Amino acid sequence: MSLAPLGPPVPGFSIGSVALSSPLLLAPMEDVSAQPFRRLAKRIAQPGLVFTEFVSAMAIHYGALKTLKKMQIHPEERPLAIQIFGGEPDVMAETARIAEEMGADILDINMGCWVPKVCKTGSGAALLKDPDTAEKIVQAVVRAVKIPVSVKVRAGWDYSLFAAPDLARRFQDAGIQMLTLHARFAKQGFEGEADWRLIESLRSAVQIPLVGNGDVKTPEDARRMIETTGCDGVMVGRAAISNPWALARIRAGLAGESLPAGPTLSERIALALEHCQMQVCFEAEVDAYEEMDGWKPEARAEIELRAIRQLRGQLPMYIKGEPGAAHVRSLLTACSSVAEVRSTLAQFQFAQDPREAVPTA
Ligand SMILES: Cc1cc2nc3c(=O)[nH]c(=O)nc-3n(C[C@H](O)[C@H](O)[C@H](O)COP(=O)(O)O)c2cc1C
Repeated sequence: MSLAPLGPPVPGFSIGSVALSSPLLLAPMEDVSAQPFRRLAKRIAQPGLVFTEFVSAMAIHYGALKTLKKMQIHPEERPLAIQIFGGEPDVMAETARIAEEMGADILDINMGCWVPKVCKTGSGAALLKDPDTAEKIVQAVVRAVKIPVSVKVRAGWDYSLFAAPDLARRFQDAGIQMLTLHARFAKQGFEGEADWRLIESLRSAVQIPLVGNGDVKTPEDARRMIETTGCDGVMVGRAAISNPWALARIRAGLAGESLPAGPTLSERIALALEHCQMQVCFEAEVDAYEEMDGWKPEARAEIELRAIRQLRGQLPMYIKGEPGAAHVRSLLTACSSVAEVRSTLAQFQFAQDPREAVPTA
């Protein structure tokens, strides 16, 4: 069953030469927005644009292969933005060029990350306190690449200064083609509610597309953000973790379509397993999970353990809210192979509804 449309369609917009089919953007999220997550979100929800998690320009400069892998793109994900962070214009420009060579459609610069390990290097949200360096970084990156450049900011460092409007004007003059505002100050972390009035205030500062971000969970939220702030697009993060169906509802709500029904428990469990297998394939650099049947057991076990560790936070969220899910969280956290994840989820599903048991092999 699907619910009636919420209103007329809200069109996508263009970031320079890149046209977005929907005004919904999937947020960059460290340790979440890996390629398998992005591909699943794209398949189920078709957001207008997906982002990689932030990529350290300095790590790329020093040739860290693990970091380079974060920039690997699959054709299914396009259009895609690679997000980079750093505090030095030359290093940022160099990494931007590599991101362009890796196939990014958009190059996004992070100026919103508030965590100390990032800010103490003069990167992320620390740049909100240093507008001259921020501007130099943007100028260097825009000069370095042919693809459109965008920036994601918070409102400012703390409540003493709403820094975003001045920065936005400088960045627009430097040639960026989209700006995203996470409507909180850096010092807040994730505390309090996002204050969408900040997005509305920023709207009149720039003519380039403005994307609002913060606390959008439903199609109603997304429409309200656009209506009340005048932003061109909506970026969604946490509501989409292990829940691409929430993203699909938001996209449909913005497109003026009927809202799709939520997933069944079987669908959620099936997607959790598929996510696991895709993460293993990504780590192993193979196209299909079955290709690993011929692998040496030790090599396969090592890759599966690594992949499942990366999904430790996300797997339990696929069944969040179901009775008994809290207990299964610890069982899933202890799993070290796809087979163990499959059997844990199968037992859980059997306990919920024996008629819907998933095959264990
Ligand atoms: C686990 C996690 C990791 C994040 N990593 C990044 C990141 O790499 N780059 C970035 O710009 N923002 C990052 N963010 C912030 C989100 O992109 C987004 O701005 C924030 O979650 C607010 O949106 P939401 O209320 O829709 O979640 C992260 C957020 C979360 C929850």
